[in-house]
Amino acid sequence: MAATASRVAWSGRVLGGVLLTAGEAVAAGPAPTPSIFAPVSTPASAIRDLAMFVLGITGVIFLVVGGLGVYVLVRFRRRVGDDGQEPPQVYGSRQIEMAWTVVPLLIVAVLFLVTARYIYGIEGHRLPADALEVTVVGHQWWWEIRYPRLGIVTANELHVPVSDPARPTPTFVTLQSADVTHSFWIPQLAGKTDTIPNKTNRMWIEPQQPGTYVGQCAEYCGLQHAGMLLTAVVHSRDDFTRWVATQQAPPREDGDVQRGRALFVSLACSSCHTVQGTPANGVFGPDLTHLMSRSTLGAGVIPNSPENLRRWLDNPAMLKPGALMPAMKLSPEDLKDVTAYLLTLR
Ligand code: CUA
Repeated sequence: MAATASRVAWSGRVLGGVLLTAGEAVAAGPAPTPSIFAPVSTPASAIRDLAMFVLGITGVIFLVVGGLGVYVLVRFRRRVGDDGQEPPQVYGSRQIEMAWTVVPLLIVAVLFLVTARYIYGIEGHRLPADALEVTVVGHQWWWEIRYPRLGIVTANELHVPVSDPARPTPTFVTLQSADVTHSFWIPQLAGKTDTIPNKTNRMWIEPQQPGTYVGQCAEYCGLQHAGMLLTAVVHSRDDFTRWVATQQAPPREDGDVQRGRALFVSLACSSCHTVQGTPANGVFGPDLTHLMSRSTLGAGVIPNSPENLRRWLDNPAMLKPGALMPAMKLSPEDLKDVTAYLLTLR
């Protein structure tokens, strides 16, 4: 648990830094934090409230038990001049035994009932007709993000509209896995939900504040489990409409990068990646149609800059050991041209 917390804090710092340098997709808002105590979305607020309630009860238990322990240690400590005899032993006090059986039973019953009420409250939330639907597919080691009704496919960055309390527009997320079990977790937006092979899970978020929120895979899934970072960008309604329009448009064709484009399409790149409007239609790796609209490469491991893109194409494993994309062994000139082409995918 402590290891998880420090890892999440670490990834939050790294991703926060990455976002600040790359900048492009960052909406205005408070600095990203992977803290469950700073919720901005309905399910996350419910989880924070429940956590505080449980912490309150267990805190009182801790104080009572710890206080009694300290009191007994001090009050009945060994003193100079003790006669060394055992104190009188008490057996079979019905009142004491009833008390330490019934009180914990009541506490457990309260914790159980309150928790069950929150779980059903979150899971039983009905989908309004105008809710945004997103499908997130966990891959080793990146996130595929699809908007089936909008015809958008992207990766590692979830873009959603802010939800106005007067007219809520929640986002419903369908979770699947392409390989092993991963877990989708953006602490400020909702609890974690696993993506499991051959099983579909669902969850929802309802962010009330525009901003950028960080998260990551929360289920060990192999070598790059820690390199499977997530960003959620919550837009104002107008900004979200603009984002959708940009993503739906095919990338602008640029005559200056024809050689790079031809290389990209003819090389193995096209069997793993899709770029709308080209013969490249692979689905094994991230859709690259609007690659340059994303702030990071390799699911959050490095900022998306021209130099990093060139290094990534040259040898992905140098930047993300274990990444399933092979080094393409391009000549320096080919590398330059393919990079130049990818830089036009805005
Ligand atoms: Cu994916 Cu851990």
